[in-house]
Amino acid sequence: MSRMSRAVVDVDGTKKPVPIWGPEAFEGMRAAGRLAAMTLDHITPMVRPGVSTGELDREIERFMRAHGGIPATIGYPHRDQPDNPFPAASCISVNHVVNHGIPSFAKKLKEGDTLNIDVTVILDGWYGDTSRMFIVGRPEKVPVKARRLIEVTYEAMWAGIRAVRPGATLGDVGYAIQKVAETNRFSVVRDFVGHGIGRKFHDAPEVRHFGKPGEGLVLEPGMFFTIEPMINAGRAEVKILADGWTAVTRDREPSAQFEHTVGVTEDGVEVFTLSPAGFEKPPYPI
Ligand code: MF3
Ligand code: CO
Ligand code: CO
Repeated sequence: MSRMSRAVVDVDGTKKPVPIWGPEAFEGMRAAGRLAAMTLDHITPMVRPGVSTGELDREIERFMRAHGGIPATIGYPHRDQPDNPFPAASCISVNHVVNHGIPSFAKKLKEGDTLNIDVTVILDGWYGDTSRMFIVGRPEKVPVKARRLIEVTYEAMWAGIRAVRPGATLGDVGYAIQKVAETNRFSVVRDFVGHGIGRKFHDAPEVRHFGKPGEGLVLEPGMFFTIEPMINAGRAEVKILADGWTAVTRDREPSAQFEHTVGVTEDGVEVFTLSPAGFEKPPYPI
């Protein structure tokens, strides 16, 4: 199914091979990525004042299963808490929550909130992983800084995606993202990274959203990974809440994130998780 190439040294010092995938894998990833993106499209009109993040999650799970998918995050093991698997079909991260927000029927959205919804679906064994930002209610009720953060984070993700081609490096990708964020006086979160993906949720390589041109893994056709920058309006530092999952900005300033799953092609990049509805960034035309 895949041939392994280019062992990379991971943060923990272990060497992990980066899978190189063929045409049938690209077909599988197109279908899984499309279902993940359709799930976000489907939930978009429900993102309104008064809805709870638990209700959004319930509909996300229903939609995935109705289309033959399995939510990859339900029961996903915690890095170092064996008795604390992730409990939901999505991560919903509101305002100063950086990522891994746990959906809850007690958490109701209010006008002016900004949020990231991150979904990962398994379809025929292939993983599609994508997230977008949303705003709640009228755009003019969202603080200007938070609106600008969303725009810059979207542009940063796309700068990273545009840097993907055979012969480019992951340092080139990280540098492109970091440059957009820091030129706009925002900061790149260092504690979470993008990841290889395919028939596993999280695989090699680790994809940093910062870096130096020419450094790191040399990209080859057939590599699959996510690009999912988390950008903070204030400082980059995060802390994890007592639930073991929810990451928040230490300074309580807002955070934003977008995520696509991509594959390296012979002449560039294919994005598997583009929105069939054309929903790219808020405000969405609903
Ligand atoms: N979808 C997230 C990512 O982009 C991972 C969520 S894992 C969970 O990698 F357990 F928090 F759901
Ligand atoms: Co991801
Ligand atoms: Co994700």
